[in-house]
Amino acid sequence: MAKILITSALPYINGVKHLGNLAGSMLPADVYARAMRLMGHDVLYICATDEHGTPAELAAQAAGMKVAEYCEKMHIAQKGAGAQFKLSYDYFGRSSAPSNHALTQHFAHVLEENGLIEERVSQQVYSNADGRFLPDRYVEGTCPNCGFEKARGDQCDNCGKLLDPVDLIDPYSAVSGSKDVEVRDTNHLYLKQSALSDDLRKWVNAAQGWPPLASSIALKWLDEGLRDRSITRDLSWGIPVTDKDGSVREGFEGKVFYVWFDAPIEYIAATQDWAAETDADWESWWLTDKGADDVQYVQFMGKDNVAFHTLSFPTTIIGQNPKKMGEPWKLVDQLKAFNWVTWYGGKFSTSEKRGVFMDQALDIAPSDYWRWHLIANAPESSDTAFTWEEFQASVNSDLANVLGNFVNRITKYCVGKFEGKVPEGGEDGEAEAWLIKELQTRLPQLVSHYEAREFRKAMAETRAIWAAGNEYLTQAAPWTHYKTDVDQAAVGVRAGLNLVALFGIIAQPIIPDAAEKILDAMNIPPANRTWNFGKHDDIAKLINALPIGHAINAPDVLFTKIEDPDIELWTERFGGGQ
Ligand code: 2FM
Ligand code: ZN
Repeated sequence: MAKILITSALPYINGVKHLGNLAGSMLPADVYARAMRLMGHDVLYICATDEHGTPAELAAQAAGMKVAEYCEKMHIAQKGAGAQFKLSYDYFGRSSAPSNHALTQHFAHVLEENGLIEERVSQQVYSNADGRFLPDRYVEGTCPNCGFEKARGDQCDNCGKLLDPVDLIDPYSAVSGSKDVEVRDTNHLYLKQSALSDDLRKWVNAAQGWPPLASSIALKWLDEGLRDRSITRDLSWGIPVTDKDGSVREGFEGKVFYVWFDAPIEYIAATQDWAAETDADWESWWLTDKGADDVQYVQFMGKDNVAFHTLSFPTTIIGQNPKKMGEPWKLVDQLKAFNWVTWYGGKFSTSEKRGVFMDQALDIAPSDYWRWHLIANAPESSDTAFTWEEFQASVNSDLANVLGNFVNRITKYCVGKFEGKVPEGGEDGEAEAWLIKELQTRLPQLVSHYEAREFRKAMAETRAIWAAGNEYLTQAAPWTHYKTDVDQAAVGVRAGLNLVALFGIIAQPIIPDAAEKILDAMNIPPANRTWNFGKHDDIAKLINALPIGHAINAPDVLFTKIEDPDIELWTERFGGGQ
């Protein structure tokens, strides 16, 4: 049994997430967490809302609410959406929590003591009308690169170039629209990532089992030469920059830590909050001298988050203990990065009615349908385009035909012909030998794919196991034998029922609702729903695992097919290929 710590990138607070966000971090993290729990590991899955930064302030302003109230409301909404998608977080925290304030400030103090934070003067746009400095997105103006007139301070949406707000031509305040702005000197704290470049490179090079996507992004930044990053911003909502006595640092009134400095620290702070609520111990998950050396820490994220998780956050962590005499915090072991899910090749957009967002999705179809489709098509090696047609095909063919029909056919038949009890009689023959061989090859492969976090492969294997069940029933054909040889028919029904139970068991990480219906109908007690497939010989026994006479029911229809008119309707509402 291993201790596995799982985190998925914290969703920004500004609005409910779309299916692409779900598919690239939270959903695979959940599927992995569920699979590892079923294998008997001690799993802790942590996530939270990422509540600071300009996006939070601007979204609150647009909603006409105070930032704190807006964050509270959206945290509840995101937590609810996660629950409806059956995301099995052990804790879903908030980066604005007191624990994160304290830990972020503590980390910054230690970094500064260790010479890894430095105060520097920089130039920044100041708005006379608003009486404040304007960070990142609070300044807009003409892009010096392409001439686009509504470029944001941090990036031009037209040409994609990363910008420094002071380079904008004809800048104006996005807060008030005022053009009465000027460039002034101001102080900020800088995280000296460059000082740890060599340590970071060694660590990235030594990492094993990361997808090439993750290590290549990290190495690209290192090859270009790591730049120090400013980790404070001129905002009022966020974590104040304090001295050790808790008072605001001189010159940092009206400034807070940059959202990307405190967000990953929330992984730890949320674990502290989880521990406080459950009377558990958080140190053994995060401090290597308190047991966290034995923890396997796995992070899930989209590719845009990789640099922060492989360079900036590790700088914060390594920087706590550069001389090996301080607090030994845990670095990530496995980093699973994803490409994008696109909407027919383009961007999701609420305003342009393109794409489905988490709160709308469940009006369209149950969470299992989305979970299956998104994880079976996870954007592991390249971007993946969502299309309604492929969604329909996944649901109708994999779920309704391959799994659903199998379960219904054999359970109904058992209820009709064998009083709903696992029948006795007959002996396993050629068809059963074939089936056992299939399972002996496929079940260990399934487990390895999960252990390697290869989601597409794990789903393909799951589908292949379900398909093998159908193939077996075609070979065994109990309904044909029943007329002449009831014992022979009993063999097929018995193996078939055992397969139903097995299919439910392996479906649990992916489609937890349907899996539960199947296992409830099969009267499988919770203790027997785990993944103790064992080795070769144990797998051979799986098709005779249910006791003779064990009572079962036929579950209601598990999956409803998606019809063409549904697709037409949804295309109209949420956009599609045209
Ligand atoms: O890109 C994003 O959505 C960020 N909110 C992810 C933050 S991950 C972390 F480090 F907290
Ligand atoms: Zn531009």
